[in-house]
Amino acid sequence: MKITIAEAGNHAGKEVTIGAWLANKRSSGKIAFLQLRDGSGFIQGVVVKSDVGEEIFQQAKSLTQESSLYVTGVVQEDSRSPFGYELSVTGVKVIAEAVDYPITPKEHGTEFLMDHRHLWLRSRKQHAVMKIRNEIIRATYEFFNEKGFSKVDPPILTGSAPEGTSELFHTKYFDEDAYLSQSGQLYMEAAAMALGKVFSFGPTFRAEKSKTRRHLIEFWMIEPEMAFYEFEDNLEVQEQYVSHVVQSVLKNCQLELERLGRDTSKLEHIQAPFPRITYDEALKFLHEKGFDDIQWGDDFGAPHETAIAESYQKPVFITHYPTSLKPFYMQPDPERGDVVLCADLIAPEGYGEIIGGSERIHDYELLKQRLEEHNLDLDAYKWYLELRQYGSVPHSGFGLGLERTVAWISGVEHVRESIPFPRLLNRLYP
Ligand code: 4AD
Ligand code: MG
Repeated sequence: MKITIAEAGNHAGKEVTIGAWLANKRSSGKIAFLQLRDGSGFIQGVVVKSDVGEEIFQQAKSLTQESSLYVTGVVQEDSRSPFGYELSVTGVKVIAEAVDYPITPKEHGTEFLMDHRHLWLRSRKQHAVMKIRNEIIRATYEFFNEKGFSKVDPPILTGSAPEGTSELFHTKYFDEDAYLSQSGQLYMEAAAMALGKVFSFGPTFRAEKSKTRRHLIEFWMIEPEMAFYEFEDNLEVQEQYVSHVVQSVLKNCQLELERLGRDTSKLEHIQAPFPRITYDEALKFLHEKGFDDIQWGDDFGAPHETAIAESYQKPVFITHYPTSLKPFYMQPDPERGDVVLCADLIAPEGYGEIIGGSERIHDYELLKQRLEEHNLDLDAYKWYLELRQYGSVPHSGFGLGLERTVAWISGVEHVRESIPFPRLLNRLYP
């Protein structure tokens, strides 16, 4: 019977066949250990010379790394392996031999591995990160579906810029100019007026010349938008959503977290509610910590965010940023014109901002004024303004960056390992 490695537990004591690749092997005169992987998981195949005979044993010993195989054997419970099972091999059929596989068990440099990303994805650590990414996506759909949100897909080719014009990828759209989407938010606002509570999940593009462990040129964002949700309602969805995602990974990716050596005690207490501090409070805290050169109106950089996050065990909301630091669409604080009803959610352990969100301006005149102040073309935003002419309501939303979230939960240092094929400042290959 042909099974996958993940299904091995249902076949203990039975003979099965697994289509697999040879991840690694070691052998002595009498016994060979084959580390097998098939995408669903990893299992050790044990080939004992006295059981299989000379011919099969020699064949097993000569297998090369990453050759593809059909391996037949009996599934055995094995309490020593984290997976819980191993395979007593009875036969091996080579499908395709791999010669001189470039990624060997020795240490390779990052640039070498990135050049071989198409193969690097097969390794245990990368496999674990991709599984965690998949679980985060699954838990995202689960969370929003259970809460009555509809998934809506905003366009990728757009004529306007939600987050400011400097970081747009320009392209031709026949005779017109177009840009690759840097956020689906404005379209999601239209969708929220049609469907109430909506979320998107798609690629976004930023032509930012940033080369840090938190920046990608192409990244994936989850963007919920909710009609009739005000500032505080928005924060509550965010903390519930992030808690759900973390708890789902803890529950469903135990093997992967273990393989990555993730300290799961740091994830266990990620449960709503999350602490909230205002920009002003954060600034005061930074001054107390000796960050002297930062002043009211300056944006926080990575060292500032890390210092703030270090005083909390959970992600922390920084709220009420100065209006001048944020995009045109954010609702001003009714009590103070110089700050907006926004929040950035800062992840623990130095992973930085994982969510940006706000209440949106729903007053037509105010929005028009803000567009003008930002020198934006009113014609391009005509449709967006019309949302405020026909039954405008208070509404809020946010965007969660998937790769930063994957990096944080997996505990990998750099976002380049949290997306299958990263697009970085100096990298478009493979
Ligand atoms: O804070 P940002 O720019 O917010 C928006 O785009 C809003 N329009 C979202 C909304 O309200 N619907 O981006 C949101 C998140 C950030 O918190 C961060 O996690 C991620 O997207 N992000 C990036 N991730 C990787 N590389 C980059 N260059 C990123 N820029 C933003
Ligand atoms: Mg932001």
